This record gives sequence, C-alpha cells and structure tokens, in this order.
Amino acid sequence: MSKELIIAIDGPAASGKGTLAKELAEYFQYIYVDTGSMYRAVTYKTIQSGIDVNDEEKIMEMLAHTTITITPEHTTLLDQVDVSEAIRENQVSENVSYVAVHPRVREKLVDLQRDIASQGGSVLDGRDIGTVVLPNADVKIYLTASVEARAMRRQLDNESRGITSTFEQVRDNLALRDKIDSTREVAPLKQADDAILLDSTTLTIPQTYAAAIEIIEQARKNKKLSE
Ligand code: DC
Repeated sequence: MSKELIIAIDGPAASGKGTLAKELAEYFQYIYVDTGSMYRAVTYKTIQSGIDVNDEEKIMEMLAHTTITITPEHTTLLDQVDVSEAIRENQVSENVSYVAVHPRVREKLVDLQRDIASQGGSVLDGRDIGTVVLPNADVKIYLTASVEARAMRRQLDNESRGITSTFEQVRDNLALRDKIDSTREVAPLKQADDAILLDSTTLTIPQTYAAAIEIIEQARKNKKLSE
C-alpha cells in the first residue's frame, strides 16, 4: 500500500473544488484529477457529433472510440486534442448534467478515475468521489458555499476566460445543475457520512486552503501512527 493519501473532494458546481484540489496537489506533490472535466469532455464530443445528450446508447457507441486523458499539467485531452478551454463554454455547462445521469457513461468514467487514483498520492474532485468512486479514500472533504457566492465566483472566472454571461444566468445554471446532480438516481451529489464539511461562503481562498491542509496533515499523522 502507498504511504501517500488518497483525497476525495466533493461539492456542488463552482464551490471551488478544482482550485482547492489543484492547490493541495501542488502542496503535497500529488496527482490531481478533475473528474468533472471528463464528464465535460464527453458532453463536448456528444454535442460536436450531433448526438442527443439523452441518448445513452449513442453516447456509449461514441465512447467506444474516444480517449480522455488528464495530463500532469491538468489539461484535458479529448482524442489527443487539448479541449481544456472548450469544455468550459456555456453550451457544455448547460448540457453536462444530462450526460452525467447515464449509468453506463458513469461506469466507464469511474473505472478510469479509479485506475488513475489507485497508486495513492492523488486528489480527485467531483460529485461522487467520496461516496462511490473512492469510498475508502483517506480524506474526504465536502466543499460547499451559498449559490450566490458560487455564482459570483464563477462569473468572475468566466470574465477572466472571456466567456460572456450574466450573474443571473450563471446563478440559475448552477441552481439547476445542483438540482439535477443531487436528485439523479445513480451516484447523486451528497456528502459522504465520513466527509468533513467545509463551507467557504464567508472564507477567503487562503482560509479555505489552510483549513483543508490542516485536515490532510492530521490524516497523514494518523496514517503514519497506524502503520
Ligand atoms: O465540476 P464540474 O462543474 O466541472 O462538473 C461538471 C458536471 O459533471 C456536473 O454538473 C456533474 C458532473 N459530474 C458528475 O456527475 N460526477 C463527477 N464526479 C464530476 C462531475
């Protein structure tokens, strides 16, 4: 068994999971896997291929000849092409929750995620990491914030990427995705029983990092003691 930890970070859309996970991976020199980017890459290709996002059969046929790779530099490659920016576009954000409900699509991506995480020393973020993908993760953090705080942050992020959107559009899209993600039948978004809740509504980014690092340092000590 690896001495290094497997860290699961779950939470609703735009809760800052990605930023936190990336920071933690850098701090502890771990691998970072953005599982949302995998669902986004599938959605992007589905749209580009003219396939209905509700047609699981066709999406599975498409996936039989599709490769998705997350590079050590945190870029997402779809069939060897860098789609990191394209998968953040509104059209993908608006459709991804419909693609992510399909059980067979999830099964395929979960296998890929477990493969990457299995060596230890990894941080994965998503919706079902602590509950389904890695139920034995060493540390589980459930990161959340109010929908307004999340919409404000996502809107600023969109502006910096040159994506045009209004605050209301972003807030309504987040609220709708939260609803679909948390009420779907397979692997709904929910806090694992053994996850630590981190609500960043009133926290600055450095305060959120500091809280997470403390949680992980403690888990590392506990793991060393139990060896
Ligand atoms: O984290 P994100 O907003 O980039 O995720 C995009 C969508 O992918 C999200 O609305 C739900 C889905 N998703 C999922 O169902 N399970 C995951 N582990 C990660 C993302």
